[in-house]
Amino acid sequence: MKESYKETIRTWKGMYVNAFERTINALPEVEGVLVAYNTNIDAIKYLNGEELEMAVENAGKEEIFGLVDNPPERITSLKDLFAGILRSIKYGKAAEWFVESGEVRGYLREWGWDELRIGGQAGIMANLLGGVYRIPTIVHVPQNPPLQANLFVDGPIYFPIFENGEFKLVHPKMATEEGNELIHYIYEFPRGFKVFDIEAPRENRFIANADDYNARVYMRREFREHFKRIAERVDLAIISGLQVLKEHYLDGTTYRDILQRVEAQLNVLNRLNIESHFEFAYTPNEKVREALINMLNKFTSVGLNEVELASLMRIIGDDTLAEEVLHGDVFASIDAMHLLMDETGIKRIHFHTYGYYMALTQYHGEEVRDALLFAALAAAGKAMHGDLQNLNQVRDALSIPTNERAFPMVESLEREFNMERGIIDMTDRQLAFIPTKIVSSPKSTVGIGDTISSSAFVGEFALRR
Ligand code: AMP
Ligand code: GLC
Repeated sequence: MKESYKETIRTWKGMYVNAFERTINALPEVEGVLVAYNTNIDAIKYLNGEELEMAVENAGKEEIFGLVDNPPERITSLKDLFAGILRSIKYGKAAEWFVESGEVRGYLREWGWDELRIGGQAGIMANLLGGVYRIPTIVHVPQNPPLQANLFVDGPIYFPIFENGEFKLVHPKMATEEGNELIHYIYEFPRGFKVFDIEAPRENRFIANADDYNARVYMRREFREHFKRIAERVDLAIISGLQVLKEHYLDGTTYRDILQRVEAQLNVLNRLNIESHFEFAYTPNEKVREALINMLNKFTSVGLNEVELASLMRIIGDDTLAEEVLHGDVFASIDAMHLLMDETGIKRIHFHTYGYYMALTQYHGEEVRDALLFAALAAAGKAMHGDLQNLNQVRDALSIPTNERAFPMVESLEREFNMERGIIDMTDRQLAFIPTKIVSSPKSTVGIGDTISSSAFVGEFALRR
């Protein structure tokens, strides 16, 4: 090991410990967070190679293999389903396809799951912020059947109801209804997972989405009619779930109609000076993606990974920059973040990728970096346990070594930009960079991105208070 690395390890270790302590002490400063819109049930199955091979043989192996590299991107038959799963395994890539066939939905339910968890970015963040960080959290839940409500953990997690004109916040478990069960079937596989002659280059998951509500960003009446009263209860909002929008729906609705409703709610948040974060999940439709970029000026902050940042560069930058971002070029990623900030005026951009995070902000302060460090501990805890249940699991992540593969990047940023302790002063902007903690055999991968973005956004706000 390089001698200078020993020093670097010590420095980051100290910063991690300090950031953790400071952030957990500050979290009680946050009075309320709103998370909307997508909540669903994640039915997680850890794939078994033999079982999968048999199912593929039964459904028609040859045709399925033909579809692996001609992906239908949606599921109308069992062949599509298995092609999607095999494709994800082959490339080690996450994918999410919508299940259009009732018959396949029946099959998925029967095939079953190993574990049910709350899903959707909003649902996952509610369990984290309310259940683990103990911050009062109001969550948008499109449907609230008992199966889903019971997946919310105990804690200050609230579902708004209006009874005889009276506004009440109750735990989702206290307000269940005969709603639809919005199930996303998640097939997880570890790195090296083998099926036929395919071997997964890294751990990941395929999602078969059987949920008609979140697909059109369904908004509950309470949110449509009483949004201001809900917003008045919080000091932060995190918006997600817009990635699934389609250009047109069968009833004539378009993504524009839906985004208009969202924009009206953002206007309310802005009038109330509530800082808002947009979690930018991968948005396949380019028109929707462009509309989302145009909406970013209404948010304070945005969170994205390398695939998402590259997909935005294809629209506002160029294909070369997009490719460089995808290939993990840190300088290209910084350029891309600047470009996104120039184009949208957004005040904070949080980029996360395997091994390091960066935040570009139009303000300065060590809190930005410390919140990223806290988020990396939460992410590592989540990767280790699958589901985060308490702050001790976050604290335990302090013992995971800091990712040394990011140290050469630290060195080049120190050389090129005079970075000091992860912070670069760019006069009117600041860039914070941190090497993260990587768990070598994560229990599951779904929801880590949500954990990172919400922990960093809320943590930073708490530290600034
Ligand atoms: P997303 O790409 O939004 O789903 O978020 C995934 C993020 O989770 C990546 O960018 C990594 O930063 C983080 N991550 C993935 N795998 C691990 C792991 N094994 N240990 C720690 N963090 C991880
Ligand atoms: C997407 C999926 C959902 C999952 C979430 C995790 O929203 O539809 O099932 O829980 O991503 O980030």
